[in-house]
Amino acid sequence: MKLITSFDEMRDAVKEHRRAGDSIGLVPTMGFFHAGHVSLMESADHENDMVVVSIFVNPTQFGPGEDFEDYPRNLDRDMEMAEQAGADYIFHPAVEDMYPRPYLTYISVEDITEGLCGAKRRGHFTGVATVVAKLFNIIPADRAYFGLKDAQQVRVIEKMVEDLNFNIEIAKCPTIRESDGLALSSRNMYLNGEERSAAAILYRSLQAAGEMISRGERDASAIIAGINKLLDSEELIEPEYVEVVDYRLLHPLEELRGEVLIALAARVGKARLIDNLLINLAQSPD
Ligand code: PAF
Repeated sequence: MKLITSFDEMRDAVKEHRRAGDSIGLVPTMGFFHAGHVSLMESADHENDMVVVSIFVNPTQFGPGEDFEDYPRNLDRDMEMAEQAGADYIFHPAVEDMYPRPYLTYISVEDITEGLCGAKRRGHFTGVATVVAKLFNIIPADRAYFGLKDAQQVRVIEKMVEDLNFNIEIAKCPTIRESDGLALSSRNMYLNGEERSAAAILYRSLQAAGEMISRGERDASAIIAGINKLLDSEELIEPEYVEVVDYRLLHPLEELRGEVLIALAARVGKARLIDNLLINLAQSPD
């Protein structure tokens, strides 16, 4: 596995593999890997001849007062994990190369970035779309891999790819969880012992929602109330939002139908955690 920081070197490596007829998988990340990242890399390795993993803590997707400076970083450990997971290249550009001064060009995906995390994190998805578009231009891969824990992010990237005609397939990968259901996230490291135990209620509340739906509940407000009741039972959880939306448009639903995303965000101590359940009711008999 090779570490590359220069755009020219990265482009040359991709060109060489293209000439050899290799298919290329890209796994965009901000590093500090956990089993969720590893599963993205393994899927990429399985489905492509060559895999590039980008590691870049992207300043434009962090708002003022967010954790850009504190965001955990450990390049040496990440490189070992990526190599074991089948990566061929780590692309690790410098901030000043990605954003030459003055930096003036951004990609803004409208409407679907207004709600859920976009409502609280103004500008966040513009930062995400911009950096992902830049990565797609530097590394024109066949497929790019993203985890569904960040479902709104995945939808924003899918829409950007569709609207701007990027020739790349977006592979959506399932959320990887701890044994008590907590979704893996680099931000889980901000939790102390008590907060970590309390955080398991996030997924438990989504599972309870899933059970209500299997019993036939289709009223979004009943689902939201059920989730909030469980979240309120944990003192250390400060819910930010609980919403039931249509996955494609990310607009709130009153009645569950089609591809439904039940998404939540909560503060637990210093950490802001998100999780969701994506359910396809299109095929259900009722
Ligand atoms: O999900 C992430 O780690 C980041 O938002 C991404 C997609 C790598 C863009 O910086």
